[in-house]
Amino acid sequence: MSREQILRANNVAVVTGAALGIGRALATRLAETGMSVVMADLQGEDFDAAVQAVQGVAARGAASVLGVVTDVSDPAQIGNLRNVALDAFGKVDLLVNNAVTRVGRGFDADLADWRHAMDVNFWGPVVGVRAFLPSLLANPGPAAIINVASKQGITNPPGHPIYNASKAALKSCTESLQHELRNDPDNQGDNCVTAHLLVPGWTTTGKAEHKPGAWLPDQVVDVALAGIAENRFYMICPDGEVTAEMDRKRILWAARDITEDRPPLSRWHPDYAGIAKAECS
Ligand SMILES: NC(=O)c1ccc[n+]([C@@H]2O[C@H](COP(=O)([O-])OP(=O)(O)OC[C@H]3O[C@@H](n4cnc5c(N)ncnc54)[C@H](O)[C@@H]3O)[C@@H](O)[C@H]2O)c1
Repeated sequence: MSREQILRANNVAVVTGAALGIGRALATRLAETGMSVVMADLQGEDFDAAVQAVQGVAARGAASVLGVVTDVSDPAQIGNLRNVALDAFGKVDLLVNNAVTRVGRGFDADLADWRHAMDVNFWGPVVGVRAFLPSLLANPGPAAIINVASKQGITNPPGHPIYNASKAALKSCTESLQHELRNDPDNQGDNCVTAHLLVPGWTTTGKAEHKPGAWLPDQVVDVALAGIAENRFYMICPDGEVTAEMDRKRILWAARDITEDRPPLSRWHPDYAGIAKAECS
């Protein structure tokens, strides 16, 4: 079943975290193809500039792109986002839960920061799905949800425990969502709603300087759009340093920590790191 129809002109996409990075690149590409795009992000100059830039390239003109200030950690603001999108364009065909916050510390970080990371990275998408799903299901055409996860939520590298946990929780919930949707007797056939997990690799985003080895946001967008067209659930992006085959080996290595009764995160354990490096490269 191709989902390419979702991406056609005049359809409507909602993208959170659209001021910068992958969200902005995706909003740009969708607007260029003639979709109506609702961009959501925190209030600020970056968001204003992004909305203006996307309006400037929109195939169907500036009125087809709307910026809605939204803090995705606040369910009321997500409800408002849905209402504004439906009032403006009458339907939603694609919801992309992309907004993210990062906590660069471990168990010494403030609990409030950890809770906020879960509110943005996990509860934001969950509340987003719950808010938008009824209108996606009511849409007479096909519709899709993309939740943006991370390899860190699959292989769990050290250093960012709450970010990794938030993305692991999002992966788990999105898998369950896809299962629920495909088993819903009222959600069958070409016009059903599907869920998808976009997993970027190392990508230059925000205001970071581009380094050799990183991908650019547009390359992630290419994977996402092809993934939707081909109805792939797991859209795992390689980057300039990590190939798809290396990703496959790293994911299997992490799963085998459990099945082989190794210490967790054994890829970074002195007794295993050498073997892991040799096996996973
Ligand atoms: N860049 C990478 O290397 C990378 C790797 C793996 C996964 N990802 C994932 O890709 C997605 C996009 O990442 P990015 O690197 O493009 O991010 P980014 O930092 O460039 O942009 C994130 C956007 O989210 C917005 N945001 C933060 N808190 C918000 C909130 N409470 N409500 C609404 N918006 C909020 C920010 O203002 C910003 O515009 C994220 O889900 C991230 O976890 C990125």
